[in-house]
Amino acid sequence: MKKRLVFATNNKHKLEEVRAALGSAVEICSLAEIGLEGDIPETADTLQGNALQKAQWVWQRLPQGLAVDGVFADDTGLEVDALGGAPGVYSARYAGEHCSFDDNIDKLLAALGGTANRKADFRTVICLIEDGVEHYFEGRVDGIILTERHGAEGFGYDPVFMPDRFAVSFAEMPLDVKNSISHRGLAVARLKDYFAHAC
Ligand code: IMP
Repeated sequence: MKKRLVFATNNKHKLEEVRAALGSAVEICSLAEIGLEGDIPETADTLQGNALQKAQWVWQRLPQGLAVDGVFADDTGLEVDALGGAPGVYSARYAGEHCSFDDNIDKLLAALGGTANRKADFRTVICLIEDGVEHYFEGRVDGIILTERHGAEGFGYDPVFMPDRFAVSFAEMPLDVKNSISHRGLAVARLKDYFAHAC
């Protein structure tokens, strides 16, 4: 039978990407749909720790009687070679608390300046809580940081990240192409695979 999961995120872009990547295999409920509000904490110092924290926060607050099979959350980091792996787990608030995507990109481009080594990767860890048990799924994509923004699709650091073997940034790609190669797309593919074999 089709699984019904709550995705522990307030990020509408992630919700759109994950819904598209999972297709009809799994039904996803957003936090708005289950009437859960509030800022989900992410204070751990690893992607795995943050994914677990977000999934647990929602798991512990599920409305009574809600018929769902589990809760999952993702945490993503942009790891830049020349910056020793920064911003990594701190990617969301790289330019400070409550900063915008643009603030983060400005800080990243300034930190890199004219550095020749532009290598970077995105890594996503998904934590699924099912029957109170945690399961983890990871995805990674390698690429480079561009010297300026390109494209208007996507979100976050997408305009300055160009994946290997492509000549365009994530922000210049249709969603299905990004999902087929991205950190989150690959992690979600593993989650989908888990359900395909668990049934
Ligand atoms: P978090 O997983 O929501 O903590 O995301 C960490 C940071 O990385 C945030 O600033 C996001 O906007 C950014 N981010 C997460 N996923 C992506 C992506 O797929 N592309 C570009 N930026 C992303």
